[in-house]
Amino acid sequence: MIDKIKELIAEAEAFKAQSKEEVEAFRIKYLGKKGLLNDYFAEFKNVANEQKKEFGQTINQLKKTAEDKVNALKEELESKEEVKGIYGDLSRPGEPIELGARHPISIVKNQIIDIFSRIGFNVSEGPEIEDDWHNFTALNLPEYHPARDMQDTFFIQTDPDILLRTHTSSVQVRYMENNKPPIRTISPGRVFRNEAISARSHCFFHQVEGLYIDKDVSFADLKQTLQYFTTELFGKSKIRLRPSYFPFTEPSAEVDVYWGLETETDYKMTKGTGWLEIMGCGMVDPNVLENCGIDSKEYSGFAFGMGIDRIALLLHQISDIRLLSENDVRFLEQFKSAL
Ligand code: PHE
Repeated sequence: MIDKIKELIAEAEAFKAQSKEEVEAFRIKYLGKKGLLNDYFAEFKNVANEQKKEFGQTINQLKKTAEDKVNALKEELESKEEVKGIYGDLSRPGEPIELGARHPISIVKNQIIDIFSRIGFNVSEGPEIEDDWHNFTALNLPEYHPARDMQDTFFIQTDPDILLRTHTSSVQVRYMENNKPPIRTISPGRVFRNEAISARSHCFFHQVEGLYIDKDVSFADLKQTLQYFTTELFGKSKIRLRPSYFPFTEPSAEVDVYWGLETETDYKMTKGTGWLEIMGCGMVDPNVLENCGIDSKEYSGFAFGMGIDRIALLLHQISDIRLLSENDVRFLEQFKSAL
């Protein structure tokens, strides 16, 4: 009889079912009131004493095997049913289509491109990995020039000639080398500087630099262009220019826009002055024109450069520049309604 029970154990272990009904039939056969197990339990009293122990252990094993099997099969069938539930009901409504959002950097970059394209500027791009000539030397920053320290440069491995561009002025050099005046171009792109990462600054950020070269371009043209730009982008036309220094422009200036002091945030953003610094600019140094093959006696021009990230923070009242590169969808989703 023990051998018979062992056979049943093997049978129970091997059992497979396709439906709940089959599992139920299996349960009744083994574990039901009139099932095999109860028969064997009833038989127990008739078993010879010296066999009682082994007999008892074997039917307990059969009981456990059958119970485990029933539970396992039930679970298996239920999970299969769930899968069927997802894909099987064709009358369900369709999947909701997730709408993407543009990144705030792209939104602001496109706005800036749009504003300048209306006054005849095209868009030029160049490599992020640059050589010394395009990032520095051509821009009137020869080797050992102290102003190189203004731009904490990342060099590529050990070659001091290859670096990550620190500004997109490098693109303007390339543009001047390859195009004849009149030139009206803006160069948006990512730039890199070895700066400590904080809420206000990052080791990579984005710039748009502009360049206008033609006969008789004057500082007045520069001022008018800047005023047009700030009015279009911020809705603010009051600007001021503070004298500054850049190796590639002379004279050079820093541009502030009058933001106002209407709200508490205005106070915070402008440190109580109402003014916000938004870009650097100046008349292109004749040396730079000559370096790029443009006759500085015939042509003059202006250039300007601004950080897109900072402007994005301003326009969208974002408190931490790091949010722009963390790819947190909770942040990015908030720009769905923007351009
Ligand atoms: N290239 C300068 C910078 O990155 C910005 C600038 C551009 C200033 C053009 C003047 C003229 O800081």
